[in-house]
Amino acid sequence: MKQVAILVGSLRRESINRKFAESVARLAAGRLDFQFVPLGEIPLYNEDLWEGAPPAAVLEMKRQVEAADAVLFVTPEYNRFFSPVIKNAVDWGTRPWGQNSWEAKPAAILGCSPGSLGASAAQNSLKSLLVVCDMVLMGQPEVYLSYKPECFNAAGDLVDPKWRALLERWVDRFEGWIEMTRQPRTRAQADAG
Ligand code: FNR
Repeated sequence: MKQVAILVGSLRRESINRKFAESVARLAAGRLDFQFVPLGEIPLYNEDLWEGAPPAAVLEMKRQVEAADAVLFVTPEYNRFFSPVIKNAVDWGTRPWGQNSWEAKPAAILGCSPGSLGASAAQNSLKSLLVVCDMVLMGQPEVYLSYKPECFNAAGDLVDPKWRALLERWVDRFEGWIEMTRQPRTRAQADAG
């Protein structure tokens, strides 16, 4: 089964994005294995921290991402932009120079907000960052979940039929995306077999 490292861009205890991410992980059980990457202990990026013993949370994040077949970002929307928690984590992952943990990783974005646009601006702003970091980003289906408590049951499972059907399709597509993007990335790699 494909392993997916999942990064949630909210550190809030009652985060709706974490709740959404956990519901997607359960929905995909048996098809995709989601490993949540803890971001709460990752310091603000500071080049000096690479000297000596780099932050353990950063090294663990890089290890988890590199071990995964793919990465999923679940972002809240702050002022029509994606979460700084995610930007900070992505920046750490691109360093040290030449050791970009995100390179060639199949990736996807989800997000939700209580607003009617469902964190669409956040998700769209995140796309450009992931592409620059050399991730292979899935474009469709887009999921802009306008969060309503009644979309979930008491156990936190997504029960709204419309959203559930879309997420089932999303899981199916992401599984296929991960498979498809395992192809060699350069002519030289393909020739080397
Ligand atoms: C928000 N929120 C928000 N929502 C939205 O749909 N568009 C936006 O631009 C913003 N901007 C924004 C800025 C700041 C500083 C905060 C704190 C919040 C509301 C946001 O979607 C809501 O608080 C979510 O609950 C945040 O996600 P988590 O933390 O619950 O996952």
